[in-house]
Amino acid sequence: METKAWAIAHPSLALIKYWGKQDTQLNLPATTSLAVSLNELSSKVEVCLSDRDRVILDGKEQAPERYSLFLDNIRSVLKTDHHYDIMALNDFPGSAGLASSSSGFAALTAACAALSGQEVLPPDLSSMARLGSASAARSIFGGFTLLPAGSSAARPLYDHHYWPELRVLICLVDEGPKMLSSRSAMERSRNTSPYYDAWIKDAQTVSDEAVRALEQKDLERLGSLMRLSYQRMFATMFSADPPIIYWKPGSLALIHLAQELRTQGIGIWETMDAGPQVKYFCLDQDTKRIKALIEARFPEMKVLVSRPGPGVSYGTGKLSL
Ligand code: PMV
Repeated sequence: METKAWAIAHPSLALIKYWGKQDTQLNLPATTSLAVSLNELSSKVEVCLSDRDRVILDGKEQAPERYSLFLDNIRSVLKTDHHYDIMALNDFPGSAGLASSSSGFAALTAACAALSGQEVLPPDLSSMARLGSASAARSIFGGFTLLPAGSSAARPLYDHHYWPELRVLICLVDEGPKMLSSRSAMERSRNTSPYYDAWIKDAQTVSDEAVRALEQKDLERLGSLMRLSYQRMFATMFSADPPIIYWKPGSLALIHLAQELRTQGIGIWETMDAGPQVKYFCLDQDTKRIKALIEARFPEMKVLVSRPGPGVSYGTGKLSL
């Protein structure tokens, strides 16, 4: 029997956002999300059998409570009573609104499955990963994925070769850890924002239209729907009690820069998650010019460029972390 297994997954960046839970216990999303995996960012996980669960993430031991429900479910699905010694590393800032929980939990799920020696089908991996973080259900598949409202697993729409010209520029406004977890922020939005019901009511139309725009590779249509989605998601946070404000001055400056470039005819569309970072979607042909403009205006800002990436890969034995 194997005693060690590994997995690598890429973060799943939502074009259309999941925000709020239909079922908190089961971690079922209240809105449909549409996402792309980011090839140039990854989380690596190595798992060993142990007599107790222990998680070391980027060199720091984590509070066991964050993992206990997730790992108990893994044991129940894999019909095992093993415990795990887990070593996880992100090659990008974690807990900073860059979807590190999506890639981290997807990799962890796949590594535990590999260690069990059982063949677990991707929809089952996706469902197991969801209990760690709903966006992790999407990271299992990679490429372009859909996680329908109320669903236990994500669905692959197109693989990462589907739109080779698409690029995502990740602008690191602030690399520090976020002030509030997305889990707490979405619960507060649900419980206290008077706009939360309107967000839920409207979200399905936006995601249905975005799926059609993606089918046609219509960046302008898709981009304007992406903008509606993240702005309406933030409206539930700004109106929560107390309000949640992840944005920093640099975030707003980048939103304005995208607006300015669009008036010059450049196809650039931004989105944001539970953190201050701004992610631009554009085409390969415009990437150099946009990156140079960002660097000229914000000389201190780090910008990562990514293409669509694949789903989780995993195996047994040791991975060089
Ligand atoms: O899956 P979580 O709990 O990390 O929440 C993700 C929330 C957003 O990133 C804001 C949106 C999304 O769909 O990924």
